[in-house]
Amino acid sequence: MHKVETKTVLPATRLRGDFIVPGDKSISHRAIMFASLAQGESRIRGLLRGEDCLSTLHAFRCLGVEVNDKGDDEIIIQGRGLDGLKEPDDVIDCGNSGTTMRLMSGILAAQPFFTILTGDQYLRRRPMGRVITPLTSMGAKILGRDDHSKAPLAIDGGGLVAAEYHSPIASAQVKSAVLLAGMQVDGVTTVYEPHLSRDHSERMLRYFGADLESFSGGTRVKGRVVLSGKEVDVAGDISSAAFFLVAGLIVPDSELLLKNVGVNPTRSGIIDILQQMGGAIELTNLRELSGEPVADLLVKSSHLHGIEIGGDLIPRAIDEFPVVSVAAAFADGVTIIRDAKELRVKETDRIAAMCDCLGSLGVAIEPLDDGMRIVGGRRLTGGEVNSCGDHRIAMSMAIAALGATTAIKIVDTACTETSFPGFWELLTRITEN
Ligand code: S3P
Repeated sequence: MHKVETKTVLPATRLRGDFIVPGDKSISHRAIMFASLAQGESRIRGLLRGEDCLSTLHAFRCLGVEVNDKGDDEIIIQGRGLDGLKEPDDVIDCGNSGTTMRLMSGILAAQPFFTILTGDQYLRRRPMGRVITPLTSMGAKILGRDDHSKAPLAIDGGGLVAAEYHSPIASAQVKSAVLLAGMQVDGVTTVYEPHLSRDHSERMLRYFGADLESFSGGTRVKGRVVLSGKEVDVAGDISSAAFFLVAGLIVPDSELLLKNVGVNPTRSGIIDILQQMGGAIELTNLRELSGEPVADLLVKSSHLHGIEIGGDLIPRAIDEFPVVSVAAAFADGVTIIRDAKELRVKETDRIAAMCDCLGSLGVAIEPLDDGMRIVGGRRLTGGEVNSCGDHRIAMSMAIAALGATTAIKIVDTACTETSFPGFWELLTRITEN
């Protein structure tokens, strides 16, 4: 469990700098998973060494995968193929990582041995029925707390058949769990989703050699895939870049260049949102890295205005709404976020958490059942807020502090290690007070 650390962030006069943000969390998880399930060696560069991805690395070590990690930019994984994992001799702890637990459930449901997955106090509260239901329809035997809806999960793997699943939510974790189970069994497995969620699994499975077809409304995979070890370069995480995009926009006289950021269209909703709000963000040097588009992003201080956000844009920016609400607080007029009920089941209830944090600093913010309504334009006062152990709430409030009238003390900040090691040092490096 994280110890309770606090940070005090002072208002900034301007921000300047060029930097790279750490590797993408979603891509890093998948690189470890697919390299482990591939035949032969994979070399992964730029992997995010945040706690969530270290949980995935730990899980595969428990399953017998050899990982050579010298602590430099490259890790080497000796893949064991679909049939080479071994039964772990203890419970696997997924820490705070929903992606680890949900994707591993799909992988392990098809493996002929017994596993127990658990996690920290936050992860054990999050809904797991969304992966247990489709996996059970494929023949999986998964038990959990609270009527088989919460971790710890006990998985008695094997005996799965291919299936068709119509997911009621646009969730890449649900989609991936079903595809990862389906790719290990005979036949074709198809997942339909109401809006396209992030497609990193599809891209990287293809990159590793899987026969996988994406079509409007869904994806299908032909089972018993053979994945071959690869070299993977992980793009910078747009969800981490998002904090600095908003910072660069709201602090006057600022200019930041964020290099090598992943701009996959299923993830780049934050750029669209901030540009629609009037933000000056320029994409340059667009290129491809291991099957993913990346670019350099130049951001300059801008006068923002409120907008309405909903529909397809929501899954394309699902992790960015804490920091979008900060941008909205600094924008003129009203911002309304709708169709985003999923925010209630993230690392914390992010609608409640942002309303508490920003509301306590004088922002007129109101929770909606499926989003938030924020009246911007009034400068935030200083004060004290609590991250509730959620990395993205802690970092969003640090960005809010840069534009506040006086210092903001943020309680419970060690959680930023989940996705962004080095966040506080980078913030200090680019800030002029
Ligand atoms: C993720 C998918 C999203 C996202 C999470 C990472 C992934 O979750 O919020 O941070 O890597 O697949 P959902 O699938 O619950 O939308």
